[in-house]
Amino acid sequence: MNRASGVLSLLFVASALGGVIEDFEYLSVVEMCDLLPQDTSFLRPNTCDNWVRCASNNSVLEQGGCAAGLNYNKELGRCILASSSATVCPYANAMADQHKNLCANETEGAFIVDPSSSDCRGYILCKSHKQIKANCPNELIFHPVSRSCVYEKQYHCPTSQARRASPACRSLPNNTRLADPVHCDQYYECVSEVLLSRSCPAASAYDASLGYCVDVAEVSCYKTAALPAPENTFCLDSATGSARVGYFADEDSCSHYYICGNPSAGKHDTEPKHLSCPLGQFFDFEKLSCRDRLNVRCQLDRCVGTNISYVNIAGDCQSYGRCSGGVTVSVGQCPTGYFFDERNQGCTETNYHYIACSV
Ligand SMILES: *[C@@H]1O[C@H](CO)[C@@H](O)[C@H](O)[C@H]1NC(C)=O
Ligand SMILES: *[C@@H]1O[C@H](CO)[C@@H](O)[C@H](O)[C@H]1NC(C)=O
Ligand SMILES: *[C@@H]1O[C@H](CO)[C@@H](O)[C@H](O)[C@H]1NC(C)=O
Ligand SMILES: *[C@@H]1O[C@H](CO)[C@@H](O)[C@H](O)[C@H]1NC(C)=O
Repeated sequence: MNRASGVLSLLFVASALGGVIEDFEYLSVVEMCDLLPQDTSFLRPNTCDNWVRCASNNSVLEQGGCAAGLNYNKELGRCILASSSATVCPYANAMADQHKNLCANETEGAFIVDPSSSDCRGYILCKSHKQIKANCPNELIFHPVSRSCVYEKQYHCPTSQARRASPACRSLPNNTRLADPVHCDQYYECVSEVLLSRSCPAASAYDASLGYCVDVAEVSCYKTAALPAPENTFCLDSATGSARVGYFADEDSCSHYYICGNPSAGKHDTEPKHLSCPLGQFFDFEKLSCRDRLNVRCQLDRCVGTNISYVNIAGDCQSYGRCSGGVTVSVGQCPTGYFFDERNQGCTETNYHYIACSV
């Protein structure tokens, strides 16, 4: 069982990320509807004759049961005769097994195959002779002999047709979409019981309630889904539209600089290194060095990134700026014949001609 517990512990990692979709059938109906477009109707999982209709602008979430002798047909969206060949309840096997306790004769903590699983991913964990049903994580299926989740190539699922069928799709009509709980620019779609991952076109994202991709500015993402970080275009020369490579000053801070790496696959470096000079130093673009801030011309606010109280001002060695909270809050002037000396924090008769204040 060592191997099984090793592989199964992966399940808990995986379910932290994609678990909502993996365990769709075990969610509450409200949680299921959160993943589905508004107004979606579907078969209530683990039943053959109950349906759910998700809330819409004009209606609240509704649940119902078919009249006696009828089963709910998810494709038709209504109840039809249970004996009709058009309706094969995807949970029929599961319901038949429901009252059989497969853990009755199993040892504590045993993993056994879930015979109701249509895709070989289901297994049962026996705890105090009770059955706890779960699915192997994506890409893995349950091996009934080794009693562990294994890669698909390690075990041939007998119902190979249904091998990739997803439990999330069993209850949903064909072509139903589900929100991706992690990525807002992606979604899932059930096509012939198989869960396919889809991507929204550029600059759009999936609106969980509308059920289609809309402009990123207007999207309402599924609660845990995040928009991708906007692409870093620092290394893209906006004037020429081509990539730039090398060392560059940070346009927002004299004490920081960027390194743009070589373009890859024809695309500029989207992850430039953003580095900081030691305290008291600024980046000198001409010397490609960090050096004493008084020896660097900085046109930005010289109070940024320092804890000193008074700073020299670019282009005027007689004036000084007063810093508070890392920004210049006021500007003062030394008396006639005096020059400001940031190093000694006062006005002196000596003009040191710091590059920081020279014209
Ligand atoms: C709900 O309202 C939104 C915006 O008001 C609209 O775009 C959407 O189509 C409506 N949905 C339904 C099912 O009526
Ligand atoms: C458990 O063992 C009992 C007695 O041997 C047997 O009658 C029963 O069918 C077994 N149950 C299962 C699920 O194998
Ligand atoms: C589901 O819809 C697709 C079209 O999107 C179609 O090709 C496929 O045959 C349908 N599957 C079933 C089982 O109806
Ligand atoms: C500024 O910060 C440095 C390093 O944290 C410290 O050594 C120095 O005393 C501080 N100066 C003032 C004026 O607070």
